[in-house]
Amino acid sequence: MPHIVAPSLLSADFADLNSAVRLVDESPAPWLHIDVMDGVFVPNISFGFPVIKAIRPLTKKVFDVHLMIVRPDPYINPFRDVGADNLTVHLEACTHLHRTVQAIHSAGMKAGVAINPHTRVEALEDVLADIDLVCLMSVNPGFGGQRFIEHTFNKIERLVALRKTTGSSALIEIDGGVSDANAKTLVAVGADVLVAGNSVFGAKDPKVAIASLSTLAG
Ligand code: DX5
Ligand code: ZN
Repeated sequence: MPHIVAPSLLSADFADLNSAVRLVDESPAPWLHIDVMDGVFVPNISFGFPVIKAIRPLTKKVFDVHLMIVRPDPYINPFRDVGADNLTVHLEACTHLHRTVQAIHSAGMKAGVAINPHTRVEALEDVLADIDLVCLMSVNPGFGGQRFIEHTFNKIERLVALRKTTGSSALIEIDGGVSDANAKTLVAVGADVLVAGNSVFGAKDPKVAIASLSTLAG
């Protein structure tokens, strides 16, 4: 399966989200990564329902919504209603993770689980076969433009092995510090989805940046 590039809206110009979403719409990237932060789980606040709802009509690309919020359960259906296709919650934020995953599926979305850099991939073992996506944080969540944590390569290798032993087909998504400098190696080691914020929207030409991450030309 070819890897998926998911430009992250967090690094776009918030005064012109229309252009940012249209740019992704016209690009080869199949997903748009959308970071929701609550100022509690992470030390930052981004945006929520009204923004997602406003950009939903602009594209048919997959809305890959990454919740960096505590207590996500009451918000599962509302995120579906504004157009999320994938809903990813943090393992560290869910007391009853399996129940949360079931609720995401019942709402008709793909279920993802994200883990922070300090969380062992083995903590996912008993839920891996039930989920569609693992989001490995390769920076500490909360901000775009941070430096990639090299230990992530080790975590991908262990997750690929764990996926095999658990019979899971969850996609492995890498989130944070992804650029041309590491994209090729990430995919070679086993990444299925590359989230890219700063390396796309901070580039001189975001279209060229998406094309480069898509073809791993860098
Ligand atoms: C960070 C977010 C990321 C962020 C990545 O907490 O989860 O999705 O947008 O940004 P870059 O690619 O700039 O590290
Ligand atoms: Zn994210």
